[in-house]
Amino acid sequence: MKIFIDTANLDMIKEINSWGILDGVTTNPSLIAKEGVDVRARVKEIAEIVNGPISAEAMSMTCDEMVKEGRELAKIHPNINVKLPMCVESLKATKILSSEGIKVNVTLIFSPLQALLAAKAGAAFVSPFIGRLDDIGQFGGDLVAQIMTILENYGYETEVIAASIRGPNHVLEAALNGCDIATIPYDTLKKMVSHPKTDEGIQKFIADYEKSKKN
Ligand code: G3P
Repeated sequence: MKIFIDTANLDMIKEINSWGILDGVTTNPSLIAKEGVDVRARVKEIAEIVNGPISAEAMSMTCDEMVKEGRELAKIHPNINVKLPMCVESLKATKILSSEGIKVNVTLIFSPLQALLAAKAGAAFVSPFIGRLDDIGQFGGDLVAQIMTILENYGYETEVIAASIRGPNHVLEAALNGCDIATIPYDTLKKMVSHPKTDEGIQKFIADYEKSKKN
């Protein structure tokens, strides 16, 4: 499974990139606003750090405007993908942009049939939101599983990005369902590294090694 980080914070991106496990980055308007930066300048900086897909969200609401904005975003760096929110206008825009070789990530996917339509329109990525479904009492893991089944049934090349991940269990659900990519917040990535028994084991090995040196 590919691992993306879901943030626009450069320090977090640099740190996780240094681990050698980072395949890409997703941003959204909320994450960009949190950093108080301009989306174009920030995704350019990110693309200079991470060698992989970087999603930048277009804010236009009509097909023509989405296409125009998408082309501008894609010009920033070859690794920039255009993120569009699921709707009729974005399906039309996805068809046009993908036919020009611009990769589109259709986001805010909450049903398997939305993902099917986005894949048919030529989306390179679809982003089902696991956490926000869990928030309203539906099981986000099922959404990912159903999307994977449908896209595999018909051989779509669209990659599924498990998004709105709130903790390690969401990453586990995505991985068990064969999801192509999980876009993960910094704190969750940190939690995935640790286990109390690992820490305890390391301390024991160090203590035993120090003891053996004294013998
Ligand atoms: O990038 C989109 C998504 O990951 C947002 O997550 O936690 O705001 O639902 P969240």
